Parts: sequence; structure tokens; C-alpha cells
Amino acid sequence: MVEVDDRDVFCSGRYLVSFDTKNLPCEFYDVVIIGSGIAGVYTALSIPRQAKVLIITKETIEINNSVLAQGGIAVSLDQHDSPALHFKDTIYAGAGLCNETSVKALVNEAAENIATLCLYGVNFDRDEDRRLSLTREGAHSRNRIIHTGDATGKEVCDTLVRAVSDLENVTIKECTYAIDILTEDNVCKGVLVTDTEAGEFKAYYAPVVVCASGGYGRLYSNTTNPEVATGDGAVMAYRAGAELMDLEFVQFHPTVLFHPENNNFLISEAVRGEGALLKNINGERFMPKYHHMGELAPRDVVSRAIFSEMQKTGCKHVYLDITHKDREYLENRFPTIFKTCLSYGIDMSKDYIPVAPSQHYSMGGIMTDEWGRTRIKGFYAVGEAACNGIHGANRLASNSLLEGLVFGRRIGNLIKENFEEIKNQSGIKPELSYNNNCKDKEFDAVELRQELQKLMNHNVGIIRSRESLVMAMETIKKMWDDVCGINPANIAMMETKNMIFLAGMVIKAALMREESRGAHYRTDFPEPDEKWLQNIVFGGRR
Ligand code: SIN
Repeated sequence: MVEVDDRDVFCSGRYLVSFDTKNLPCEFYDVVIIGSGIAGVYTALSIPRQAKVLIITKETIEINNSVLAQGGIAVSLDQHDSPALHFKDTIYAGAGLCNETSVKALVNEAAENIATLCLYGVNFDRDEDRRLSLTREGAHSRNRIIHTGDATGKEVCDTLVRAVSDLENVTIKECTYAIDILTEDNVCKGVLVTDTEAGEFKAYYAPVVVCASGGYGRLYSNTTNPEVATGDGAVMAYRAGAELMDLEFVQFHPTVLFHPENNNFLISEAVRGEGALLKNINGERFMPKYHHMGELAPRDVVSRAIFSEMQKTGCKHVYLDITHKDREYLENRFPTIFKTCLSYGIDMSKDYIPVAPSQHYSMGGIMTDEWGRTRIKGFYAVGEAACNGIHGANRLASNSLLEGLVFGRRIGNLIKENFEEIKNQSGIKPELSYNNNCKDKEFDAVELRQELQKLMNHNVGIIRSRESLVMAMETIKKMWDDVCGINPANIAMMETKNMIFLAGMVIKAALMREESRGAHYRTDFPEPDEKWLQNIVFGGRR
């Protein structure tokens, strides 16, 4: 592990805004969960019913990245499959940087959590014998992706949200933006929030806070992620003293619709799993040239291959060809993709689908152990917000929803074990106050954010180099200098300050990693280097 000296990171105060707990409206809970994707909601369902739980979410409950997941959830159920093979594939895709203990937990506990989803009533596709249908995605050696058509995330999230809404011990507050984790002597005390309607600050005190706020896809202009994915969780965790790991590893999904009216709609990897081929604009299949697994090579390999074909042909996209399947099959198996393509005049049973890679997933995040614990007592992270090492340098397809389930339940189990202690610490109001010494001044959050997103796309994208990264760092430093002393007066300004800060850390890590590994590719260091078989960790506030 390489720890980045905190002095190398931009300077930030302990909290984003000024406050005094003496004057804050407040409520008391046992557990506060930030985020309403699969990881947040499943964690809430895994917590003992005696606990008073609050879920807060930035927008409405259904706006998150999990809902958009198309492909499915990886689980070894086939008679020729096993957790050991799922482990092997995950480690292979992760390019040497996975944490084996976390991966073992992931693959060994997959089936029991899928059984729980079925008990909640998730309607996965089944074969004629009522067994869960299994498809394949990139870098899987077996068919092991369970799915609900091409809207698996939506089916799972809708079902879990219905279940959690029925629980009397769980309160859900929408349109609530988490500003910072409140801590005292490295112990979690709750969350400072602002209500997007009233605009005032509030405190939700709790001895346990679980950050399930998602990733940082919106650092890029070209992304499949929803607008809420601004990486706030990572930055507030860092300010509170948690460590961040693997930030340089940003996954680009190979096949995102390329159309003048829509270039963030995912064309699931499951389409390739069902036989679709990638072709360049001259109609030539190219993947076998790049990897023996062809179209089902690990995602980073496919994205780079597409990028290289785009450069060679001077075209901004390639094609996905599934015209060998008939219309009826495609309409049933991929209803959302079929309909969406058709709405842009693309009939996938006859036409090639224009696609290009786009940012899709953040491998890095808040460093946790295999139980979701951070170095702050009572503060946990789960799902895309967390980095427990299961993805290493490149996430294996369809391991992300699974991660939310397995580690959400693990956190629930820890809460159960420590419930008496948690109850004893509940209901206590900490005495905390902070002055950020910032000026009240406006900055154009939207314009700055767009500038940042373009910069990240061009300079910190699929292909990087020292030159592109140094240039990005210089620009980001200027942006930070412009905003760091300004008191953020609204959520857009808070998000933008967080995004600039986080982008600085992503670039710093990408500059430090002088090699190519998984999703991190540098033209000046095109090969993996054994000395970099270690994680880059931002040390947090000591
Ligand atoms: C997809 O359907 O291709 C996305 C699945 C994933 O990101 O794991």
C-alpha cells in the first residue's frame, strides 16, 4: 500500500460549511444510511428491526445508479460452476489488485443473498424448469448472470424499496443532501444535512452511519451515471478522516449508445453475452485481434480495443451487431434496449447499433475492510461508494449489485452483534461547532462542473499519459484555488467543491501509478509493473 501524504492533496477544512450543534434542528436515530441504491436499501433491510433507521437520499428514492443496472447479478448456480471459479474470474479481471478476503466473502455469500432477493419477490427470469436463467458477460468463464430482461437493477430496487417502505423502524427522507459526517475523536456521531427544499442545515445524530452514496461517475461528461453520482460520499468521508483507495481506477463501459440525441444509454454487456459482435465502421470484426476471449474479454480490454479502432478508422464509434437474432427474441430478452434503440430509428434485429465507451463505474472509494468498516468508529461504507478491494483494477461485470447485497448484509450482521452498545450510544447530542472561515461569494457551479467534466474526459479517460495528467492537475489546482475559500451557498456549489477536490485526488493517483493495469492505461508506461502491485491510499485526516 502506498499512502499519499495529506500535504500532497489540496487543503480542505474539516467540514464544508460552518455550523454549531447548539443551534441545529436535529433528530436521533440508531443508524443513518446515506443513499437509496441497492446497497443502502438492502443494508436497511438487514438491520435488526428494533433499530431506528433513517435512509436519506439526495433526490427521490428511485434516482440512483443501481436502478439503471441492466445486465444482472453474478452468482455461481450452474452445476458446472462454483464460487471458486467466480473467485478466479474476479481476480483475473481485477488485474492483480483484488483483496482476496473480500472476494471470497463476495463469491461465497452470493447464493444466500440471491435466495433472500427471491424471498422478497424479485422476479428474475427463469427457464422452463423454473430455474434462474443464466447468461454470460465479459471475463466470466461460465454462464452465471441472473437477470430480469435488461432491467435487473430496476426490478431489484423496486422490490427492495417496497419491502423497506413497509418497515416501521425505517424512515426515508428524500431530497436530503448529506454535507458531512459528524465525528468526535474519530467516533461517528451522525450526519450534517441540508434539506433541498427548506435550505437549512440539520443534524441526524446516530452512532452508526453507513455511506452508500454511490460513485463519482459525474466527474466525467461522458458517463452512464445519473446526475447524483458526484462522489460526495468519498469527499465527506475523507474530510472526516477515512481513507480513500484505488481512485485512479475508473471503469469505462465498452458499449454505450452513440447517437446525437443520446450518448449515455447503456447497451448491456449481456447483448454480447448473447452473441453480439463488435465491428468497426468498415464492418470488420476486430476483438479476436485484441484478446482470446473476443467480445467477452474483460471490460477494460474491450474499451481500449474499441478506442483503438475508433482512432484507426477516424470515427467516433464502432458497431454492435446482433442482427443474427430475430426481432421477437430481442424484444423479449432486451425490451428496454430494443425500445430505446427503436426510438432513435435503430432496429437492432436489422441494424448495427452505433456504440462507444463511456465512464460507467468507480472502482475506487472509501477504504473498508471485508465488513464495510472504515477507520472511523461507527462509520461504514458499502456499494460503489466503498472500496473493499473486490474489484481491484477492473470490476468483473455484474459484481456490483452483488457487492451491495453481500456487504450490506455483512454490515447488518455487525450492527446486530453490537446492537446493545449502539443503543447505549444513541440519543446523545454531541457538542460540535465549526467555522469554515470562507467568504460568502457566488461561483458558477454549473459552468465549473462542465469544464471539469470535459477535462476529466479528455485528460483522465481511457488513455492517459504524464502529459495529459499534469495538464489536468494544473487546471484542477486553479479551479480549487478559485473555489476553496468560498462558502458554498447551495447544493450545486457544495457538490462542485467536492467534485473538484475529488478530481484532484483521482489525477494525483493516476500520476503516481506509473504503469498500466486494469482500467488505468498510460501511454508512457504501457505495461504492468510488479512494483505497482499495491493500492494507492489517501490517508485521511490523522
Ligand atoms: C451491463 O449490463 O453491461 C452492465 C453490468 C455491469 O455494469 O456490471
